[in-house]
Amino acid sequence: MGDSQNSEKIVELAPKDYKLSYSDFVGIGNNGNLWVEDCDVEELVKEYGSPLLIISESQFRQSFRQFKKAFTDNYNGEVEILYANKSNNSLALRHIMNQEGGGGDCFGVNEMYISLLAGTNPKMLVLNGSNKQDEELEMAITNGLCINIDSMDELTRISDISTKLNKSVEIGIRLALDLDSLADKTGVFMHGPGTLKEQSDSTKWGMSREQTVEIVKSAQQLENIHLKETHFHLSRMTNEVEPFAVMAREMVTWSHYIKENTGWTPPCIDIGGGWTYGRWYGTGPNSQIDDENAPKYIDYAKRISEVIGEEAGKYNLPLPKLRIEPGRLISGPCGVAVGTVGAVKQGDRKKWVNLDLSTNHLSWAAILDWYYHAVPVENTERDATETVDIVGPLCNSDEIGKHRKMPPLVRGEHVAFLDAGGYVESQAARYNAQCLPATVLVFNELSEITTEREQLRDVSSRFRVPPRLLAQSFS
Ligand SMILES: Cc1ncc(COP(=O)(O)O)c(C=O)c1O
Repeated sequence: MGDSQNSEKIVELAPKDYKLSYSDFVGIGNNGNLWVEDCDVEELVKEYGSPLLIISESQFRQSFRQFKKAFTDNYNGEVEILYANKSNNSLALRHIMNQEGGGGDCFGVNEMYISLLAGTNPKMLVLNGSNKQDEELEMAITNGLCINIDSMDELTRISDISTKLNKSVEIGIRLALDLDSLADKTGVFMHGPGTLKEQSDSTKWGMSREQTVEIVKSAQQLENIHLKETHFHLSRMTNEVEPFAVMAREMVTWSHYIKENTGWTPPCIDIGGGWTYGRWYGTGPNSQIDDENAPKYIDYAKRISEVIGEEAGKYNLPLPKLRIEPGRLISGPCGVAVGTVGAVKQGDRKKWVNLDLSTNHLSWAAILDWYYHAVPVENTERDATETVDIVGPLCNSDEIGKHRKMPPLVRGEHVAFLDAGGYVESQAARYNAQCLPATVLVFNELSEITTEREQLRDVSSRFRVPPRLLAQSFS
């Protein structure tokens, strides 16, 4: 298996011609309804029920292809894209990623297991995490994944387990970059207050320069350990290119420092995820400023390639292999979350439209108003004459879209939230004993269930009542 695991089977993508396009594969169709690829969303909800998550397979593939092409066209070294499984860790999407030649970033034994179950080339998987369990390390070592070290005792544990298994293992080291030049840049509030540097410095991630050198020196003494890469993830999210360029440059600066102190030059740098995207309708992680002025893939790719080249040149280092772990940028735009209108309540100062979709599903809507763009599903060309708060059924305020301009909505109609492919299914919660929704994968006119809807029995089946409580209740 090489870079592309199934490169002979290229799936052709056919961008759609909508009356109004939200993307190449989501838009308003000729009948005035919202469509995902060649499927009318109203029909999908009738068939599969509500609330419903819909994934456009073509959009998922297209985002991956475009991101990858931007980097392979611009970077002079080798490039590997490791899709961040956590952003949507559906087994079906993992299969698609494999077909596209994408690797994967795995957090925890389950994401690793799902990737292996889908047949992902283990050489294109990395295991990240701050507190890896023995079971995780064993699975990674047995299957040949690269493990990115993030604590001082991890190397010894990895070495002991690999010796026990009689295996060798590739390792990386997660860095705690200095990022001083981001001291005056702000990221999104969802990651806490402060500048990008303050936010980054305050997290648990990464090893200091001195710790990194210590780990490298120890690894150099161990026969079964092969040093493969350094790793960083700028998770604070900004819709500017420059913070990513600062981070990428700093990775190479650290490569120089590591080389000077150990003799080892990292042949590969993994610069993580956090890449955002802009939509003409202005929603996303940075809320209403994520519009068409937000960086395009090509902007990221050009600048990152430029700074890595400059910094490697400055220190006379070979151009490292580049690994990148985009999540939301690949999975976000391909998803649409749909809910059904229930109670509509007019208050003295406000109108609320209740849906069966909630912040259990759109968890970021609770933190960042305007993360998702909301549109009616049926008859979308009606005038948006009302400003309403769209809310879910949970016992908290459960606001999934505040101050949204909508046509008058009535019970039984549907509302869709766009760009809900990333961190919706994978972060969905069961608060108030709610069942998790189903996900349907759409490709042209095909629609197929990829995640089954949870039933009440699924929610209650894990509960146990100790016999002594039963006796007390019923005696
Ligand atoms: C190590 C790592 N890589 C990649 C990602 C993906 O981030 P995003 O979805 O913002 O691209 C994450 C997200 O938490 C991460 O922790």
